[in-house]
Amino acid sequence: MNTLNVGLVGTGFMCKAHSLAYAAMPMFFWPAPTLPCRKIIAGTSTSSAREAASRFGFERSTADWREVIADPTIDIVDITTPNSTHAEIAIAASRAGKHVICEKPMARTALEAEEMYKAVKLAGVVNMVAFNYRRIPAIVLAKRFIEDGSIGRLLNFRGTYLQDWSASPQTPFSWRFSRSASGSGALGDIASHVLDIAEFLVGEVSAVQAMMQTYVPDRPIVPRSDHNIEISENQQPSARAMVDVDDEVLTLLRFRNGTVGTLEASRNAFGRNNYLTFEIHGTEGSICFDYERRDELQVYFEDDPHDRKGFRTINTGPAHPYGESLWPIPGIGIGYGEIKIIECYEFLKAVSNHSRCEPDFRQGYQIARIADGISDSARTKSWVEIPALKD
Ligand SMILES: NC(=O)c1ccc[n+]([C@@H]2O[C@H](COP(=O)([O-])OP(=O)(O)OC[C@H]3O[C@@H](n4cnc5c(N)ncnc54)[C@H](O)[C@@H]3O)[C@@H](O)[C@H]2O)c1
Repeated sequence: MNTLNVGLVGTGFMCKAHSLAYAAMPMFFWPAPTLPCRKIIAGTSTSSAREAASRFGFERSTADWREVIADPTIDIVDITTPNSTHAEIAIAASRAGKHVICEKPMARTALEAEEMYKAVKLAGVVNMVAFNYRRIPAIVLAKRFIEDGSIGRLLNFRGTYLQDWSASPQTPFSWRFSRSASGSGALGDIASHVLDIAEFLVGEVSAVQAMMQTYVPDRPIVPRSDHNIEISENQQPSARAMVDVDDEVLTLLRFRNGTVGTLEASRNAFGRNNYLTFEIHGTEGSICFDYERRDELQVYFEDDPHDRKGFRTINTGPAHPYGESLWPIPGIGIGYGEIKIIECYEFLKAVSNHSRCEPDFRQGYQIARIADGISDSARTKSWVEIPALKD
């Protein structure tokens, strides 16, 4: 079996998720499309990179991501750094002929995303944006029901993504609250996932009418703070930093196929941890999904006999998408790790076959265009059209 050498940039949360996926993918998907070799990891300092190499199973480490790009043995560059770094790394990697997987949101702005899309297209390398939630078996099953007409013509889509890690004003400042580092707040961070699911299940978004809110205007500066760890009483901050991104975004959506929809995303919704949900209504039925019950899909089919009508719950398992490779019992439960393993499998399969892998940089660019449209709409308090992407 052939191997592909991976160079990963970043040593945080997503580094953990992607490293786990490279290690575990062949344990789930066998025969594996390829055996990924965790070759080199890049961090911001020699010590953090070296520590990450031993923890996440990489052969070598560096404090300079350019070393990853310059290494002729590296086949894949995996970008798990803050959003402001994605464009520079992805463009350099594709110019060096590396296949690229990049965490979401693809970039801070549509302009940056367009440059990235052009670079991978010119280089002819395989590329993917890590919108992992569309890989959830229940969501792929929802797509099957939509495509086979089980719920008829789609009428509407209601998506939400609510978290509460930044609801407290004491949640420390991090790159996620800085426009220059992240591009936007809840919009790029979590609403972008819902936009990807909406485009995957419903189709292209054609117009938006949005509102954006920032509830906490400044946050404590805590050295080396993790983004979701609150400061303790004996660790009082001496200074606070200005937040210049949104905590919450609400938008109406119009789709090119006539479907209408809504999207709400907030990082300030106390009690909601990772409440990513959607509900889709069609002329013949409905579909509901809740990430916190990710092994379940709720479906309603209007052509059920009258005395049986109602939502039913399907527990995903071996009979459903990716099920044969996951666990042998329906409802035994998958987590975030398995979703990243499926994503890794799809990307490595595409690299091995040199084929297209969705969502690719074109689709990441499309999500960035919609996100820019949402920001413009919130600023101008008007509907903003998202013209069809030409190529
Ligand atoms: N797909 C998802 O579900 C999901 C979830 C969380 C985060 N993300 C995305 O993943 C990316 C990273 O987020 P995270 O939660 O892992 O952040 P994080 O803050 O936990 O980790 C970021 C890492 O990048 C490193 N880094 C920063 N600049 C670097 C550079 N120039 N060279 C090398 N390393 C550098 C930091 O030291 C840190 O280790 C972001 O784009 C984020 O939006 C995606």
